[in-house]
Amino acid sequence: MDLEITPPRALKGEVRVPGDKSISHRAVMLGALAEGDTCIENFLMGADCLATVRCLSALGASFTGPDDQGRLTVHGRGAGALREPEDVLDAGNSGTTMRLLLGILAGLPFFSVITGDASLRRRPMKRVTGPLSMMGADIRGRQEGNLAPLAVRGGTLQGMEYTSPVASAQVKSALLLAGLLAAGRTSVSEPALSRDHTERMLQYFGAAVHRTGCTTRITGGQTLQARPVTVPGDISSAAFLMVAAAVVPGSAVTIREVGVNPTRDGIVQVLKEMGADIEIFNIHEQSGEPVADIRVRHSRLRGVTVTGALIPRLIDEIPVLAVAGALAEGELVVRDAAELKVKESNRIATVAVELKKFGVDIQELPDGLQVRGGRPLTGARCASHGDHRIAMAMTVAGMAARGKTVIQGAECVDVSFPGFDGILASLRVE
Ligand code: S3P
Repeated sequence: MDLEITPPRALKGEVRVPGDKSISHRAVMLGALAEGDTCIENFLMGADCLATVRCLSALGASFTGPDDQGRLTVHGRGAGALREPEDVLDAGNSGTTMRLLLGILAGLPFFSVITGDASLRRRPMKRVTGPLSMMGADIRGRQEGNLAPLAVRGGTLQGMEYTSPVASAQVKSALLLAGLLAAGRTSVSEPALSRDHTERMLQYFGAAVHRTGCTTRITGGQTLQARPVTVPGDISSAAFLMVAAAVVPGSAVTIREVGVNPTRDGIVQVLKEMGADIEIFNIHEQSGEPVADIRVRHSRLRGVTVTGALIPRLIDEIPVLAVAGALAEGELVVRDAAELKVKESNRIATVAVELKKFGVDIQELPDGLQVRGGRPLTGARCASHGDHRIAMAMTVAGMAARGKTVIQGAECVDVSFPGFDGILASLRVE
């Protein structure tokens, strides 16, 4: 599917974005492990989270809905009620589905095989299968258990202390979920703090989880008690609208009920440092997560340098941040972000290749990007590379460019932001 963008028009109005992808995955997984009914409001009905629902159903979890209000209910009967799947589990394009489920499968006493689409079958899984094997799971796959399809014989796990070489919430979450099903205590240390939705939701479901610095601990054998979950709007989806409003003259957009968890709000901090006019207000808590309204108005931006502990706080927003950098004065530099190479596409390469088509002066760095901003953008014919965030970032570039932009392969947007083009259209004023 091609998406056509004809700029420039200001963006004005108030919107909500679909539910947070990370939190939606966790809500159904913890709901399936818990005892009782977990009623989920604003669950993200995107392809990735639906892959998680399908995998959990194949493991024997039962669901009702979505009802006419969009509520999805998981009928949990505890981890012990999950059973050996009859067929291969398919995580589709979703790294979160595969990595977090591996943590659960490692702790369950049966055989399973999990695979995904061509992109996911190229992504590194050893970061999860390595430590899970050390805990006692038997996991086999290509490249010594690095690439899916992966075959898991789970069962008796022993908790352990693990230091992860990467700041990855998927690694941390897989080990915490395995730790919940293991004997004794599991602790995971990471080089910088990654998103903490798993820890928050485990606590919300009644489990004790402790964090000191960048080390998180859980003791096995705790039972989870089902509770209703309202999923906040996804800040990673809101980021496309935030950057669009910041760079398109005349814009003023309010995005309601967005998750503003401090492990996820790096994009707000960096856009503010770049000179963006952003207000965060109506801050409140929902199902253990902070939520707020975000108002963004057009303003002049300047380039900044983004490195270190900030990177995991905005890792998924770097493609659209590069677009903001292209439209800013001066230079935007992103470093310490080599993880971008192993996302749904190699995002260092795909961002650079696609933004060059708009006339942007952008260089690939071994661990990031360098963007020299300030040149006017000209509309381009772009490829999504099957990567939802590349498709949406290039849409934002197209909104600020002169002439027409076409995004080829834009159907992948459905992975995280169903209704993206409709929401954009509702904000654009003539
Ligand atoms: C996610 C963690 C991040 C992020 C991904 C979702 C999660 O990946 O990029 O989109 O839900 O835990 P890593 O854990 O690989 O950094």
